[in-house]
Parts: sequence; structure tokens; C-alpha cells
Amino acid sequence: MQKLVVLTGAGISAESGIKTFRDTGGLWEEYDIMEVATPQGWDKNPEMVQKFYNERRRQLLECKPNNAHKGLVELEKYFDVEIITQNVDDLHERAGSKKVLLLHGELRKAQSTRYPGLVYDIDGWEIKEEDRCEKGYPLRPHVVWFGEPVPAMETAIEITREADIFVVIGTSLNVYPAASLLDYVSHGVRVYIIDPEEVMHHGRAGIEVIKEKAGVGVGILFKKLTGKNLPL
Ligand code: APR
Repeated sequence: MQKLVVLTGAGISAESGIKTFRDTGGLWEEYDIMEVATPQGWDKNPEMVQKFYNERRRQLLECKPNNAHKGLVELEKYFDVEIITQNVDDLHERAGSKKVLLLHGELRKAQSTRYPGLVYDIDGWEIKEEDRCEKGYPLRPHVVWFGEPVPAMETAIEITREADIFVVIGTSLNVYPAASLLDYVSHGVRVYIIDPEEVMHHGRAGIEVIKEKAGVGVGILFKKLTGKNLPL
């Protein structure tokens, strides 16, 4: 089976009702990245940061995977599909994708502020102020903030190098190191980009742009790759 590697970003979850970051009306218009998505922001005002992620998590519980997430699951019948996602939602997993590498953490988990390796499932939507890890330290969202290391990056690079086909869905490719993955795609490998807007791909050769929203775009991709209609 050929290996189909898919890099996803906020845009794949947009049709599930989750806001993207950098579009008009995106989260970074409403909130200051430095205040809610950096260790410095947390040090300055942990209550505000906690409230921001609690709210995101509360909304996520009301969202469902859309046809783009489901279409990637259907592709597993034809390809060895590996998803590398920048998203902290769990919509790929809930759709049923078998191999999902999470680059930026998981919104539905909490980690110890002192021992980042101590990670816990969150029951419901809220990390409460009084919640503590087993060693007695407060809990923070288990997400990668700007300026923090991306521990899964090495694995992501390995997976990308092995790709026979590489697909990018719903990411503006603005955030590094994730955006650099395109540079590790082997020479001659076909790359598809699904996004309703222009995405910065620096004129790499062999790119086919499907300028559509993810739901429609994954259907088009499915037809191109399998010759069949996406059965959804
Ligand atoms: N279908 C597909 N793509 C869409 C859709 C849709 N329905 N709606 C919007 N998009 C596209 C936008 O055109 C844009 O190119 O999704 C992309 C979203 O880009 P960003 O908002 O920058 O999100 P992303 O690339 O995932 O951000 C990367 O930045 O803030 C951090 O940690 C956060 O993981 C996130 C990272």
C-alpha cells in the first residue's frame, strides 16, 4: 500500500464549527496570541489563559467530525494513511482515523505545570483552579504554546520523508516548525493542497492546489486518487 501522509490545520475543522486562527474572524483577531498562547502569557495571567482553553474545550464537546475528517478515514481502504495534525481538537480520532500524530497537543488533556510528562484526561470541559497533578502542582492545558518545543516533530519528519503522496489541508503554513514539513517531502512526490485560500507553498514543484473547502476538497482528492466517488 502506498503511504498517504496528510498534514492538517484548523481549516479541516472549520466546517465542524471550530474557528480557525488567522482567517478574518479567526481567533487571533479576537485574542492576543502572546496573552493566551505563550508561557509568558500563562505566567502573567493563568486564570485568563485557563478560561480561554476551557471555553475552546466546552465548544469542542458540541462539535462533530465533518466529511473531510470522515473522507480521510475512507482513504484508509486504499492507502496507508498517516495524519499529522496541528489541531488540538480530537476530531480525526473521533472520525476513526487510525494513525494520528498530534503536533500541538490535545485540548481534552491537562498537564502538570511542574512536570509536563504528567498528563491527564479532563473529565468534561473544565480545568478548575483547584485541580492538581499527583505531585500537588496546578494543571495547565496540554497544548504546545509558542516558544515551546514540539516533541513530536522528529517523528513527523520521519513520516513525511516516507510519504508516497503528501496532502496539506486547511493550514496557512504560517507556523513553524510544522510548516517546514513540506521541505521534507521526498523529491518527485505529488503534493495536494486543499484550501479555499492561497497558501504559502513557496512555489514547490509538483503541487496541485484544490481550491475548495475541506469537505468538498477531500471528495475531489478521493476521486483523483481512487477513481471512485467518496461514499459519504
Ligand atoms: N476548509 C479548508 N481550509 C479552510 C477552511 C475550510 N472550510 N476554512 C479556512 N480554511 C483555511 C484558511 O484559508 C487557512 O489557510 O485554513 C487555514 C487556517 O490557517 P490558520 O488559521 O493559520 O490555522 P493553522 O495553520 O492550523 O495554524 C497553525 O497556529 O495558532 C497556532 O497552534 C495554533 O495549530 C495552530 C497553528
